[in-house]
Amino acid sequence: MAIHLLQAAAPSAEHSFSSDIFMLDRDFGISKKPYVLTNEANQSATIAALRSIPRPDKPFHIGFSGWENYNLMVARQSCGALLGDINNTVMELFQKTQAAVLHSKTRQDFVENILLELEPQKERFLREDNGMDSSAIRSELTREGSWLSTDASYGYVQSLYQEGKISHLRLDISDRAAFAKVDAWLKANRLTCDSLYLSNIGDWFLLMEDGGKGIRNMKASVNRVITESTVIIDASEHFYHPSGSLPQRVIQAFPYDPEKARSKFTF
Ligand SMILES: C[S@@+](CC[C@H](N)C(=O)[O-])C[C@H]1O[C@@H](n2cnc3c(N)ncnc32)[C@H](O)[C@@H]1O
Repeated sequence: MAIHLLQAAAPSAEHSFSSDIFMLDRDFGISKKPYVLTNEANQSATIAALRSIPRPDKPFHIGFSGWENYNLMVARQSCGALLGDINNTVMELFQKTQAAVLHSKTRQDFVENILLELEPQKERFLREDNGMDSSAIRSELTREGSWLSTDASYGYVQSLYQEGKISHLRLDISDRAAFAKVDAWLKANRLTCDSLYLSNIGDWFLLMEDGGKGIRNMKASVNRVITESTVIIDASEHFYHPSGSLPQRVIQAFPYDPEKARSKFTF
């Protein structure tokens, strides 16, 4: 079963498997709350690594989940992005974020304006179970590495939205046909997938009792759009890190295999 594979691959005896955190979201229905902020550890090391790795001429970002993508895009100085997710509520979050960015001159205004949108519907948008509530969103204004922490980084994301360089797409990462289209679009526009944020989607697939079909399709999709230089940011409950659970790592690995590359960090 997939879970045994994960335990066998765990790089540290200190690690212990718990499926509890996944149970919150095991239902792939549409009622799940988005991760406006990430629940992953090791964010500062990720940003430092992304800032130091050389970039191609037109660094395009592809990513899943919530605002963590904007932090990564600023660190890579992405020329544009495709923000995907399987969850419709995440799509709504991105649309609300875009609207608020476009009408908020300053990052401080943005935070107030987006909270006016999210707080009245907090049962849909705010994951208070993980401490990702409105005060955590306000704290992004002073957290080093956050896109909301400087005028320049907020302005960077704002310019990309103003220029129509960020697309939102409801996308299942195991949808190989959709990824073939994404690949064709990248090639037609002479863009390189410079950074790919996978979060811990691999863990979710490895917990599925589907005979490995989902993870095989995820690998095929990812390997369709990446190159040896693509900077992949993923996370897993099964990476050992002293900071605790769900650490992020940064890797350049082609072909990408979320199981095989589990102990390979670039930092
Ligand atoms: C794996 S979850 C976990 C949260 C993550 N640790 C974070 O901090 O953002 C991240 C996102 O992946 C999305 N997701 C899960 N399975 C997916 C799939 N098959 N295709 C696309 N997105 C998926 C979820 O909807 C969620 O928004």
